[in-house]
Amino acid sequence: MKILIAGSNGMLGHDLIDVLKNKHELILTNSKTLDITNKGNVLDFVVDANPDIVINSAAYTDVDGCEENPDLAYDVNGEGVKNLALACKELDCPLVHISTDYIFNGESDRPWVEDDEIGPISVYGKSKLKGEEYIQEILDKYFIVRTAWLYGINGRNFPKTMLELAQNHSEITVVYDEVGTPTYTPDLAYGISQLIESDAYGIYHLTNSGSCSWCEFARYIFEVADVDVKVIPVTASEFARPAPRPHYSVLENKNWIDKGFKPLRSYKEAIKEYIELIK
Ligand SMILES: NC(=O)c1ccc[n+]([C@@H]2O[C@H](COP(=O)([O-])OP(=O)(O)OC[C@H]3O[C@@H](n4cnc5c(N)ncnc54)[C@H](OP(=O)(O)O)[C@@H]3O)[C@@H](O)[C@H]2O)c1
Repeated sequence: MKILIAGSNGMLGHDLIDVLKNKHELILTNSKTLDITNKGNVLDFVVDANPDIVINSAAYTDVDGCEENPDLAYDVNGEGVKNLALACKELDCPLVHISTDYIFNGESDRPWVEDDEIGPISVYGKSKLKGEEYIQEILDKYFIVRTAWLYGINGRNFPKTMLELAQNHSEITVVYDEVGTPTYTPDLAYGISQLIESDAYGIYHLTNSGSCSWCEFARYIFEVADVDVKVIPVTASEFARPAPRPHYSVLENKNWIDKGFKPLRSYKEAIKEYIELIK
């Protein structure tokens, strides 16, 4: 297939390239070669490239930055996605779009399924939801892939930050009242590579298996990396940040399993591989 990837320079973008490059013809774009907020340009570029499928890995992903720059957040995560959807409509080609656990409000005591009520509590979550809504309005052929707590080799992420902090701190405070599922970008990219071989369009939750709080995750990272650091649990309200985060945003990969796909491995296995690679 000829696949156009928007945002291919990002953390997930890099792993999508790795997973897809041997089997498919890739048209790689980044914020300079294809700014998804530029409506006319997006339509011309995508129609001219004539891909069989478009994968949108571009987003404004700075959750706290979105609170301070809401216009930019809605522009990239809402209007930018609309522009890609309109171009896909013109070509009648499917769009794969990456969305987030932050479209849920976090007030649940069981994992969220795809058709649970949505209710984002941050500008980032609201802007990402706008993108989802545009796609559903404009297209019939789409995969909306909601994922969570991403980390990979090519980007800033929680495990990297923890290991960097540990180099000059003996104690680190970490939030314990936010629970989710850390997800390794190569595993997610592999999942997406399977999804695009099907025509089972719709909304998918796709994360590694299992769940933990940020605090539990930090402790596990230090255990695996064999680093001696004291992790001090704090509440999200004690650890003030501009954007509120959902307290519980574990995503049940229900549609993925129902469609016969194999669950992604546990987050504990995945982080071991990542730490081995960056050591
Ligand atoms: N990171 C997470 O924990 C997480 C969790 C759940 C869902 N997600 C979703 O997963 C997807 C991938 O995330 P990621 O962590 O790989 O993000 P990332 O590393 O921040 O990459 C996003 C990419 O989007 C590009 N971009 C920004 N504005 C653009 C524009 N106007 N036009 C074209 N490209 C633009 C950026 O390019 P520049 O660098 O050139 O600006 C960047 O390369 C996103 O949709 C995100 O919302 C992420």
